[in-house]
Amino acid sequence: MSNNNNIIENDVKNNTNQNSNKNVIEVRNLGKKFDVENKGLLFSKNINPDAVFSDNHDGFVLKDVNLDIKEGEFHIFLGASGCGKSTLLNIIAGFLNPTEGSITCEGNPIVKPGPERGVVFQNADQAIFPWLTVYKNVEYGLKAQGIKKAERKPIVENALKLVGLQDHAKKHPSELSGGMKQRVQIARSIASNPKILIMDEPFGALDAQTRRTLQDEFIEIWKKTGKTILFVTHDLQEAVYLGQKISIFSASPDARIITQVDVPFDYPRNLDDPVISEFERKVHEKLEEAINIHKDKNIDKSALSA
Ligand SMILES: Nc1ncnc2c1ncn2[C@@H]1O[C@H](COP(=O)(O)OP(=O)(O)OP(=O)(O)O)[C@@H](O)[C@H]1O
Ligand SMILES: [Mg+2]
Repeated sequence: MSNNNNIIENDVKNNTNQNSNKNVIEVRNLGKKFDVENKGLLFSKNINPDAVFSDNHDGFVLKDVNLDIKEGEFHIFLGASGCGKSTLLNIIAGFLNPTEGSITCEGNPIVKPGPERGVVFQNADQAIFPWLTVYKNVEYGLKAQGIKKAERKPIVENALKLVGLQDHAKKHPSELSGGMKQRVQIARSIASNPKILIMDEPFGALDAQTRRTLQDEFIEIWKKTGKTILFVTHDLQEAVYLGQKISIFSASPDARIITQVDVPFDYPRNLDDPVISEFERKVHEKLEEAINIHKDKNIDKSALSA
């Protein structure tokens, strides 16, 4: 283990005690390969089949993935584009099944989506209903669960307040900014009171300033609700700004979580603080090591320049 590792891991021990020690998610020796028969589908999704089914590996995008996510933790997945972050997140959400290995949520095998796992997608336009008002979008999941109207009202109102949209309840998505639409998505997920909030680059499509505002707001939401957060990003700065624990992926094929870093700073964090910049540099080195594990591969290193 390098010195850098020691610094990071020693600092961490002082900072993780606010979370319980209970694992919400456990992933053991998980592997995922996509069905070769889907090759045609890959073309239609703009995915290069050769990147997935090249001759020098047996088709596993993820291999031997092991992971624990603790209750209340703000947990980040960080890795190069195409390494399998969304694939693992979709397995945790229950949208995809693993090819091998096991995955549980509070001890129960994950085989399909469940109310204890709320999902927030990158593109709010594809996730919220344009024909429903903000209020009705947030209410939607509760209605689907059969919760009575009178009981729904305070839940929706609280969720809207939490994301600062209480004065926009009657608007339709077309009347909202990108950041506001993302707030609707977050409110909708939180209204269903999931144990864990699963977020795939939720602020990736926003401009830099809106993104920072939502990041700050979201830290407050996390603190108030105490939810477990699983947050995918390929932006190193975002990872260091938000996360308590960062799981770094090696590159695909056969990607796995190669190292984990605990972030030993309180919130709000100032990325200009030299101590935090130095920490960010060390995480950058770890990310670079992880990405370079497959030196022969032509890998998108965009996470390194974030
Ligand atoms: N439905 C699918 N069928 C076959 N292969 C897929 C499918 N979805 C993703 N892949 C492949 O799996 C690999 C991992 O993709 P994934 O979307 O999980 O990466 P990612 O780390 O989320 O990337 P990004 O940062 O660009 O979002 C890629 O090689 C991708 O082409
Ligand atoms: Mg992705």
